[in-house]
Amino acid sequence: MGVYVLGIAGASGAPYARRVLEQMLATGNEVKAVITDAGRKVIEVEEGLLLTGNTEADTPTVLDWAQASDYAGNFELYHHKDVAAPIASGSFPVDGMAVVPCSGGTLGRIAHGISNGLLERAADVCLKERRRLVLVPREMPVSLIHLRNMTAVTEAGGVILPASPGFYHNPTSISDLIDMVAGRILASLGIQSSVMKPWLGPDPSSYSTNEEGIQ
Ligand SMILES: Cc1cc2nc3c(=O)[nH]c(=O)nc-3n(C[C@H](O)[C@H](O)[C@H](O)COP(=O)(O)O)c2cc1C
Repeated sequence: MGVYVLGIAGASGAPYARRVLEQMLATGNEVKAVITDAGRKVIEVEEGLLLTGNTEADTPTVLDWAQASDYAGNFELYHHKDVAAPIASGSFPVDGMAVVPCSGGTLGRIAHGISNGLLERAADVCLKERRRLVLVPREMPVSLIHLRNMTAVTEAGGVILPASPGFYHNPTSISDLIDMVAGRILASLGIQSSVMKPWLGPDPSSYSTNEEGIQ
């Protein structure tokens, strides 16, 4: 199986990161994770999870959060300022990286090669080594600056995968919406997962009927 980097930046959408992490590990991959300071703040706000910034102390908390404690041997958490971590070098082989969610700030830094922290450096490495890089921005509306930064990343070989779930698979829960985005992220990295539900055409049983029973 593969080795994947998961970056978590400070945009809304921590549940997407949780599900992607769980599925990356559950499908037999190794995961190297890095969370920005703002990423930790958003996880706290959205998931009620308090991370200290001490990676050793935070590792079991993150695994527990993702319901992935069984895969502890395949998981490593790095500090955002640890630019000497293995994933900061192109000589360390990884199969791809996703930034889930990706803030406008992190998008901008990646688009311009400003590798101040480990997350941006690991992304920069993926681009220069021509490895798969998937960014999952969550912002609305977007400015011309965001659009230009998305264009720059795309031109450099990255994939922009906005966190915008569709409704054509008739979701009935928030989990369904999370899975739709998580499944597409995993598929973009080439990870086979049952979370990815391919579109097989409309389900007639989901159509509403009128009083005469006519659809
Ligand atoms: C609760 C919360 C939600 C946020 N949501 C977003 C968002 O959806 N998109 C975004 O680009 N920034 C969002 N931000 C702002 C970023 O966290 C902020 O710009 C931060 O500096 C980004 O840092 P990073 O790129 O190092 O993670 C949010 C901040 C907080 C505290």
